[in-house]
Amino acid sequence: MKKTILSLTLILTLVVLAACGQTNKDGANGGKTTDKKVLTMATSADFAPFESRDPSGKVEGFDIDLANAIAKELGYKLEIKDMKFDGLIGALQAKRVDMVLAGMSATEKRKKNVDFSTPYNHSGEMFLTLKDANIKTLDDLKGKIVGVQLGTIQEEGAKTLQKQVDFTLKPLDNATTLIQELLSHRIQVAYLDKSVATGYIKEQGLAGFDDPTTSSPGMAVAFPKGSDMIDDVNKVLKNMEDNGKLQELKDKWLKDQQ
Ligand code: ARG
Repeated sequence: MKKTILSLTLILTLVVLAACGQTNKDGANGGKTTDKKVLTMATSADFAPFESRDPSGKVEGFDIDLANAIAKELGYKLEIKDMKFDGLIGALQAKRVDMVLAGMSATEKRKKNVDFSTPYNHSGEMFLTLKDANIKTLDDLKGKIVGVQLGTIQEEGAKTLQKQVDFTLKPLDNATTLIQELLSHRIQVAYLDKSVATGYIKEQGLAGFDDPTTSSPGMAVAFPKGSDMIDDVNKVLKNMEDNGKLQELKDKWLKDQQ
């Protein structure tokens, strides 16, 4: 009898332990079970060609393909959470998600709160205007309303630029709204990532000029501080760089931008 109780307890303990390994409660890298673990990635799907929604509402883009490749390589099932760009760092800090791929530049300031992988892409900044706006230099921004996405390096950059040129800054929480505001004349300039801006120039017949002042840090995968996934992800990125898979993704999504 004693023996039966003992083995029953043992079985129960094992069942509980196994269940714990799978629940992955805080979205963090859960226990190592044989079942596919869930990897929760957050993004802000307002930023084509890196992440946006296709007509059916499905999230797609360079970052999404890259995240799927990472998850596949490391044996995870990828789960995507779409949120405001401004909330991504907070979500990592609260460990609500395992990683962020959102065209996020690995700035020194962000590094105080999150960890980054090695960079996987480099872009620049651009000032986007309507075709006939005749805004072609930083000085031309004087007296204009310049829109930026909230929480981005462009918001920071614009604030610094305001010390030099007197314009009104309008931070908006969605990058798509930025373009709508431009098209409906509520802002005269949208300051944003060059790869993203180039897409809009082609699609919407807009104009734009390069930001001559900045050289932004590369885009990287962001993690909660001290995450145990960073090395693994860096290895996958290195492999993908060596075997041409990263270039394939760039050719697929960023070809028109380069
Ligand atoms: N690269 C810029 C930054 O890190 C903008 C990124 C915006 N990303 C997005 N998914 N809306 O601040």
